[in-house]
Amino acid sequence: MKYIIETEKLTKKYGDFTAVNSLTMKIPKNSIFGMLGPNGAGKTTTIKMLTCLAYPSSGTATVSRFDIQKNPNEVRETLGMVPQHVSLYKDLTVLENAELCADFYGVKEEDKLDRINELMDLVDITYAKDKRIGQLSGGQKQKASLVASLVHRPEILFLDEPTIGLDPTTKRILWELMEDLNSSGHTIILCSHDMHEVDRLCDNVAIINTGNLVAYDSPRGLKDILLNEEKQNYSNIKETLSNIQNNNEKLEFNYRRLSFLIENISDELINNLKSIDFVFDVNISKQGRVELQVDKFEDKAINNITSSIIKDGGIISSFSSEEPSLEDVFIKVTSEAEDDARA
Ligand SMILES: Nc1ncnc2c1ncn2[C@@H]1O[C@H](COP(=O)(O)OP(=O)(O)OP(=O)(O)O)[C@@H](O)[C@H]1O
Ligand SMILES: [Mg+2]
Repeated sequence: MKYIIETEKLTKKYGDFTAVNSLTMKIPKNSIFGMLGPNGAGKTTTIKMLTCLAYPSSGTATVSRFDIQKNPNEVRETLGMVPQHVSLYKDLTVLENAELCADFYGVKEEDKLDRINELMDLVDITYAKDKRIGQLSGGQKQKASLVASLVHRPEILFLDEPTIGLDPTTKRILWELMEDLNSSGHTIILCSHDMHEVDRLCDNVAIINTGNLVAYDSPRGLKDILLNEEKQNYSNIKETLSNIQNNNEKLEFNYRRLSFLIENISDELINNLKSIDFVFDVNISKQGRVELQVDKFEDKAINNITSSIIKDGGIISSFSSEEPSLEDVFIKVTSEAEDDARA
């Protein structure tokens, strides 16, 4: 089985309102799959249908080959869920909630405590195991929710904004946990508004907007699409301008930033950088940080600038370059979809 989840025209309507519109997509087995989309896009509704908490209005989906409408019990057994809003019993403790889940899924009595203890250690919540959920902080609740959702070792784990409000250390623990779970064979479906998180963790990403699937690719693939589109737009503009003006005017709106930390800077080094024809601007800080604005699509920019610096005796101790981010892709595809809807 290559794909663990397959949806076919999956649709959810609330009255006249379509929350999820004819969603057809495949999620590869053993992957970390990201779902992005603005507030109200339909991510949680999709997850609810896939986890059999909401019934589709039309269309179908299979989870681990089981049909979500014909075999909901089998579907539920294959999955664990950390919902957007923690749904544990507030008056029960962390341990009691986990035990309840274990019983619900029929985890053997002799395995139960070992598994729960192991998971509590893993997410670092053992110290609060006898506290009631109602007494916990937001991050502690998320951890308790994670323990309860993993106790039956589900094949697929759904996480709906699991790291929202977590401190950076706890976030990292959770990211590492997701990666560990994934490398031990679990498929993870992650809804998030944290682009860095999605970029770091996910093999594939679906962007959903107003219930529609508007993009699906790897994070790298999504960024490359944007880069290629920009490149195409740029050469069109360049051609138009050269037809009109017949000159090689520098198109300053289409630059990117390169940043070098350089030791041994001289006036000659800076003047030589300024004289490179695809360099629009050079700024130097006292610490030796040299920021350059260069033609975005000059393929040899990094090569030429680096050799110029070295030729003039500069020593490069650090370098960074601005690339399109997943956030740029998100903004672009969701605003394009809105424009289409208005047209
Ligand atoms: N039970 C319901 N009854 C009516 N409308 C609903 C119901 N549940 C969700 N909706 C609507 O469906 C749309 C999609 O909601 P959903 O919760 O799936 O969004 P989301 O992508 O998860 O957003 P967020 O990022 O804010 O969590 C929203 O417009 C919401 O108001
Ligand atoms: Mg949601």
